[in-house]
Amino acid sequence: MDTVKIGLCGLGTVGTGVVKVLKDHKARIRHMLGCNVEIVKVLVNNVDKPRDVVIDMNWLTADPDELVNDEEIEVIVEVMGGIEGTNQLLERALKNKKHIVTANKDLMALYGQKLLRLAKENHCDILYDASIAGGIPIVRTLADGLASDHIEKIMGIVNGTTNYIMTKMTQEGLAFDDVLKEAQRLGFAEADPSADVDGLDAARKMVLLANLAFKMELNLDDVTVKGIRQVNQEDINFAKSLGYIIKLIGIASINDYKAEVTVEPILLPKDHPLSLVNNEFNAVFVHGEAVGETMFYGPGAGSLPTATAVVSDLMEVIRNIRLGISGHSYISPQFERKLKVDAEKFSRHFIRLAVEDQAGAFQEITNVFSDHDVSFAKILQLPAEKKGRAEIVMITHQISQEQLLKSLQALKDLTVVERLISHYRVDGEE
Ligand code: HSE
Repeated sequence: MDTVKIGLCGLGTVGTGVVKVLKDHKARIRHMLGCNVEIVKVLVNNVDKPRDVVIDMNWLTADPDELVNDEEIEVIVEVMGGIEGTNQLLERALKNKKHIVTANKDLMALYGQKLLRLAKENHCDILYDASIAGGIPIVRTLADGLASDHIEKIMGIVNGTTNYIMTKMTQEGLAFDDVLKEAQRLGFAEADPSADVDGLDAARKMVLLANLAFKMELNLDDVTVKGIRQVNQEDINFAKSLGYIIKLIGIASINDYKAEVTVEPILLPKDHPLSLVNNEFNAVFVHGEAVGETMFYGPGAGSLPTATAVVSDLMEVIRNIRLGISGHSYISPQFERKLKVDAEKFSRHFIRLAVEDQAGAFQEITNVFSDHDVSFAKILQLPAEKKGRAEIVMITHQISQEQLLKSLQALKDLTVVERLISHYRVDGEE
């Protein structure tokens, strides 16, 4: 096995990075593996398009069969994206005993468990570290480095676009739309930013992390998702004055073998390690029963960071081939899929209300909370711009989601409450 031949699917931002890393680090890779790694075919849409990378044009093909049916190719590196067609291509590749490395979280979040099982049946590996938080080796960390621990909670800034937007809104007081346009101009945000700003991209990554950490088979539909479109400057300023900053955070937690996975803008204490993660950077904060708190930080996207993760996975696949242990990376779920119900989901909450500024209004509101056994850590009443109106901002102690929803409904039913302006979870014990 002096040379391992690979087929590369996709020659965009990440694909060109993979070609570059394999070329620039060729000696190091050979030294570590004891063999060469050679790309022999590249699947692209348009074989005639000029490329930004030095590549043998004879490698290019628009026909997936040329990769899937090529007996010389041992590993398929998939960095082209897409879901249904890509899933079919990878299924065929696995059935033809080809190992897979992919950076495709959309695909893995939907079909990951199925593909992993198929890989095991065919004694093949499918590795996907590049699909979550690009340059941060978080899959490897959960699967290997922290394998001996019981992971209780993961908090992730796993979407660079939204972290960039929230950073600029917080530090420079800019409006959501203006920052989004700037992020698109700089190339961080997609032309259609919905999957990022509405939280779906982060949800896909969080479900993959939760399944790895909790050894359960959770689905994308199990994730409660709320994006950042409704976050405004007033909320950010209120949060600041109370000692918090707002960020889009994915949280996966488990108690009594029941899981909860959410993606939403939350209030983080200013001194929380994740509060220091700014701009397009990603970070994953992992709490293990034995290890305690750990945090992993780095670039979440980009050509070379993502390509580094892809090539490291490729090296692991090749090591496994040499050791004869391919197909063992999938560990079947250990626990039944069980989700927390609302009465078991505990958090603190920030609630902001527009109310009528009249005698007794405050008492009516506090009565609603005491009726639902909700107590406050902080509460502020401020005059609103509109005459005869006030705003009440409060942070509760730990309450269940059930208590929260019932209290919010009862508040909406009060005539002194004009509207619920906003509401966020608050991280931290007290
Ligand atoms: N669109 C993603 C982000 C990068 O903004 O983080 C790829 O996962």
